[in-house]
Amino acid sequence: MTLQFSLASIAPATVDSACVMVGVYEQGVLTSAAAQLDDASGGAIRRQIESGDISGKAGSTTLLFAPAGITARRVLVVGLGAQKSFDAARFQKVNIEAARALGRLPVADAVSCLSSVDVPGRDSAWRVRIAALASDYAAYRYTATFKPRDRSKQVELARLTFAGGDEAASGLAQAVAIAEGVRFARELANLPPNICNPAHIAAQAQAFADGHDKVSCNVLDEVAMEKLGFGSLLAVGRGSVNKPRLIALEYKGGNDGDKPYAFVGKGVTFDSGGISLKPGAGMEEMKFDMGGAAGVLGAFVAAVKMGLKLNLVCVVPAVENMPDGDSYRPSDVLTSLSGLTIEVLNTDAEGRLILCDALTYTAQTYQPQALIDAATLTGACVIALGKHASGLMSKHDDLAAELLAAGEETLDRAWRLPLWDDYQAQLDSGFADVANIGGKSAGAITAACFLSRFTDGQRWAHLDIAGTAWDEGRKGLATGRPVALLAQWLLDRE
Ligand code: BES
Ligand code: MN
Ligand code: ZN
Repeated sequence: MTLQFSLASIAPATVDSACVMVGVYEQGVLTSAAAQLDDASGGAIRRQIESGDISGKAGSTTLLFAPAGITARRVLVVGLGAQKSFDAARFQKVNIEAARALGRLPVADAVSCLSSVDVPGRDSAWRVRIAALASDYAAYRYTATFKPRDRSKQVELARLTFAGGDEAASGLAQAVAIAEGVRFARELANLPPNICNPAHIAAQAQAFADGHDKVSCNVLDEVAMEKLGFGSLLAVGRGSVNKPRLIALEYKGGNDGDKPYAFVGKGVTFDSGGISLKPGAGMEEMKFDMGGAAGVLGAFVAAVKMGLKLNLVCVVPAVENMPDGDSYRPSDVLTSLSGLTIEVLNTDAEGRLILCDALTYTAQTYQPQALIDAATLTGACVIALGKHASGLMSKHDDLAAELLAAGEETLDRAWRLPLWDDYQAQLDSGFADVANIGGKSAGAITAACFLSRFTDGQRWAHLDIAGTAWDEGRKGLATGRPVALLAQWLLDRE
């Protein structure tokens, strides 16, 4: 079930709702909405602050049931942390925690006054956009592969109203579109690899195109790719019975002659490592190795839903990397679509081998005005930046700055790593034009250096989302990153 959002100017004490949410800072500082509820209820919030039941700690929540003097059935008091350090990231965090707490209550509708909490340097359209995206994020449930349950008697959150006026309407409309893209990405990435194989991703892209004007989908199978010379991509897929696809979605929201923006996303539906087999522990997480594909497809969905007036293409090389008698092997030399030959030194460095052909194809076919790829490319990027920032590498300072800014705006942040030519020598090979690995040091950068060999003359940037595309652990889910970053970047280009 998807969550419906709306906006209204709100008098917190007199709203008719199953739950009204208000914020309090630490040290007993009430937001204006909390103060209004406190007055109307004869001090119900202050009493709990004095008793120590409400601390105001960031992300904490306290439920008051049916307080006298208030028309809402419940009040959810949400801690905002210290007022003097309250910032954009904290705003996002408390909105996520508030929606999580709400999701544990038997309420179908709620009103959030958190969207009116002041955030330094941000306007109300921004606050509503982030609050709605955070709430939708928290409300997402993965159910696709559980036994169907009768949920008809379960009360689930269905409607959420934010405090805000007309000036915030654009923010809410953008949030609804971007949330749909984020959900698309999360759902696709969460599916197990026995369902989400290359053909499944192609079918999802095709179905989306079929349902939307101005969108078309073109899928190349391995026969078509063989003819065109996708020697690098096809080598990676050779060990799997789930045959590769190259998926291209086109959106014509702009003028006919306008060059498109282009996204390319790594779509390895399962990365076992191939003959350079990965260790068993944690291998199951490699179902998320199509997170880049999910991310660019989600951003494409968001762009279409926003009706952006620009042209956009989204290209996804989709393969499965498996060990087999027919697998490609370390020491094989491949001829890529660009003509450059590649010495395979490790079959687990497969992402760059499918991306290089997809990047060449995208540049040749579409001559895009900018080319951005997203990929769960290297463990080294996770070591460098952890799970909070995606790695950004580009030789184009202006493009890099645009992407960093879009990440800050949406709190889907990236951090730039250098892409100096100094690193290129690590890819030298005695047997081919380039090797597919660059040795122990600077693994995220040498992976990007490899891609740079195939993007000559393009305005290109690379996002390594290995640390950000999913939450680690047994129950870790896909995050939908970098959908928000990419969607914002497109919004800024429109
Ligand atoms: N999909 C992995 C990268 C990865 C690892 C993402 C862990 C998220 C978590 C990629 O295909 C890979 O295996 N990369 C190798 C490259 C190495 C062989 C040069 C890696 O990072 O170890
Ligand atoms: Mn790999
Ligand atoms: Zn991989």
